[in-house]
Amino acid sequence: MRSWAPHDADFVFDMYSRREVRRYIGHGEVMQERDEAVKLLERWSELQHPVHHIWAVERTDDEQLLGALLLKSIPASGTGDLPSGDTEIGWHFHPDAWGHGFASEAARRVLDHAWEAGLERIVAVTNPKNAASMAVCRRIGMTHLGQSDAYYDTVCELFAVRRPS
Ligand SMILES: CC(C)(COP(=O)(O)OP(=O)(O)OC[C@H]1O[C@@H](n2cnc3c(N)ncnc32)[C@H](O)[C@@H]1OP(=O)(O)O)[C@@H](O)C(=O)NCCC(=O)NCCS
Repeated sequence: MRSWAPHDADFVFDMYSRREVRRYIGHGEVMQERDEAVKLLERWSELQHPVHHIWAVERTDDEQLLGALLLKSIPASGTGDLPSGDTEIGWHFHPDAWGHGFASEAARRVLDHAWEAGLERIVAVTNPKNAASMAVCRRIGMTHLGQSDAYYDTVCELFAVRRPS
């Protein structure tokens, strides 16, 4: 896992221009122009935080990019995107990389990083139809807390995990 670089824009555009990737993210809009990927990478590089980060995940053998792993502040509903005070973990992978356990492997590493950095609790939210993402939550040891409208001005399935004692 590494930070994103400007030359990753082709991969990011390829990933986020696919309906199957965007289907359960936000309002599901796919990227139309490569420049949107360039701007997204610029925004990600501006996220300066001692613990939060958005990583590029690549295969060790051949450095093939696989997807993105996110550890970031999650916005509270009804606040116009203000932070809720909670930290969320998230994963967006290219369809070519699905079905190999890569997202779960990368997410476990990010949880270890979060605990080592002193965070106490991490949440994840998914669209109620996003079975693949809920399966990742369960694989990495998160507990399903039911549906919640606390974040992103929408109803999501809420998962959480606490720092191991
Ligand atoms: C959510 C998403 C990352 C899940 O990807 P994934 O590849 O299914 O998840 P994992 O990395 O945990 O891999 C699990 C799959 O790999 C298989 N697998 C193969 N080898 C494995 C291994 N060593 N360990 C674990 N799983 C393995 C599992 O059987 C499972 O496949 P299955 O669902 O067909 O049974 C992917 O669907 C995605 O990027 N979706 C679009 C973006 C998105 O919706 N993100 C979430 C927003 S909340």
